[in-house]
This record gives sequence, structure tokens and C-alpha cells, in this order.
Amino acid sequence: MTGLRVERRERAAIVTIDRPDRRNALDRATLAELGRVGAELGADPSVGAVVVTGAGDKAFCSGADLKERLAMSDEQVREMLDAYRLELAWLGSSPFPVVAALNGIALGGGFEIALACDLRLAAPHVELGLPETSLAIIPGAGGTQRLPRLIGYARACEVILLGKRLTASEALEMGLVSRVSAPGASVVDEALAWLKPGLEGSPIATRSALVALRAATSLPLDAGLDIERRAYETCLVSEDRREALRAFAEKRPPMYQGR
Ligand code: COA
Repeated sequence: MTGLRVERRERAAIVTIDRPDRRNALDRATLAELGRVGAELGADPSVGAVVVTGAGDKAFCSGADLKERLAMSDEQVREMLDAYRLELAWLGSSPFPVVAALNGIALGGGFEIALACDLRLAAPHVELGLPETSLAIIPGAGGTQRLPRLIGYARACEVILLGKRLTASEALEMGLVSRVSAPGASVVDEALAWLKPGLEGSPIATRSALVALRAATSLPLDAGLDIERRAYETCLVSEDRREALRAFAEKRPPMYQGR
């Protein structure tokens, strides 16, 4: 038994961190399971998108399991830091978009999970924060690198050095989350409705666009343009591209096969 649930809704998979008695904190077993589930979903061509969320409405994830951490040796904490990098890598490198549906507070590693995803949307009551420096550590699951890339250096300094917690509306204003759901609405249902146009598109185009978009977050322009060119080539030779042109000429919706 680990604190993770996976459920399918047609082409989307919903991954729920389910440890409400610890506000969905990440212990070693749940982190390992998250990595295993990511690998399994990534190898399944029927998956078109993944939504990551937390059980209940209080917490998306309260970060590292601090009760487990208390009993860990320094070496075990080092292993945990390596495990974060390994087990969370799929969130931003899968052949489909991964969306964090922030149902509640996201702190520390919980916020870093959301940062590693392609997109984020939030319930109106969420708070996002990286309180690590107040615990005499620093964010160790990518937060110091991904947050400044998303919201800029100065604002990331406020969050990481000064302990500023972002409300849903502040996160929306910064573009950190793309949408805030209506009060009482299910943030997962909202995520699934939002993803629908992408789920109806060609999986080859989605995959290729993601490869190029993700390159833009870390590569210089020329190297990124090379990646874009190669990613376009994958679409160019696909049956889906031919189907799109036929469907346009025949005035009907395209039927994509992912080939
Ligand atoms: N690790 C382990 N247990 C945690 C936890 C964590 N990260 N966060 C919450 N819990 C546990 C609490 O210890 C409490 O357990 P108890 O009922 O046995 O005492 C239970 O979850 C409920 O937490 P509580 O603080 O009562 O809930 P809340 O809704 O008032 O507050 C938080 C929720 C997440 C704001 C608060 O628990 C918190 O600040 N947690 C620490 C988060 C943190 O600093 N994470 C960064 C790690 S680097």
C-alpha cells in the first residue's frame, strides 16, 4: 500500500497523492511509486494527458514527510534528494502534457512537483510556498531552478528567501497557474475539460510540440530552433498530417491514429 491512486478517464490519467492524514506529504514509498506510475503511463500509448492532484481539499501536497525525515540519516536524505530528481523527471518529459490540479496548499516538495509539470491550475483557496529556508535547508526538488524560470528571479527570491506564500490569484497574475477554478468546483474536472482540445488532437503533434516547448525553457535560441526543426520532421512524415489535410479538403473532423 502506498499513498498514490491512479484512475483513467478515457485518454486522461489522474494521479492522486492520497495521504490526507499527513496532508499528502511525500514519503519515500510514495515518491518511488510516483516514479513507477510515471514510467508506466509514459509507456502507454493510450494515455494522452496526466493530471496530478491531491486527495481532499486541504492539501495538494505538504512536501517532504517531515515525520519520516526526522528519523533519516544524512546519507538517507542525500538518497532522497537523488530520488526526487529521478522519480519526478517524468512530470516534465513525458510524451503527453502533465498538469498539476492544485486542490489545496502546496508547500516545499509539493510546490516543486507542480513546478515540474507542464501546466498548473488551482482552486481559489490554495497557497503555494517554499518554506525550506525556515527549516534550515533549501528547496531540493528543482524549486531554485524552475521557479525563477517561471516567475523571474526577483519574485523567486521573495518566495525562497523571504518565505512569501503565493495565493491562487497572485499565482494567476504571475502566469504560474493558468487558471483558477470557481469556488466549490472540482479542479480535476476543470483540468480535464481544459485539456479536451489537446486530447482530441494528433498525439504526434502534441508530443513533438512538447519536445520543442520544453527545450525553450533551458536551451539557447539556436539550439532550440534545431530541436523545433527536428520535431517538425516527425509530424511531417506522419499519417496524421496527411489525414488533417484530407479532412480539411473534405470538410470533416480529422480522425487521428497517432501514426
Ligand atoms: N510531513 C508529515 N506530516 C505532516 C506534514 C508533513 N510535511 N504536513 C502536515 N503533516 C501532518 C501534521 O503533522 C498533522 O498530523 P497529526 O494530526 O498527527 O498532528 C496532520 O498532517 C495535519 O496537519 P495540520 O498541521 O494539523 O493541518 P493544517 O491543515 O492545519 O495545516 C499544513 C496543513 C500543510 C499548512 C501544515 O501541516 C504544515 O505547515 N506542514 C508542514 C509543511 C512543510 O513545512 N513542508 C515543507 C517541507 S520541506
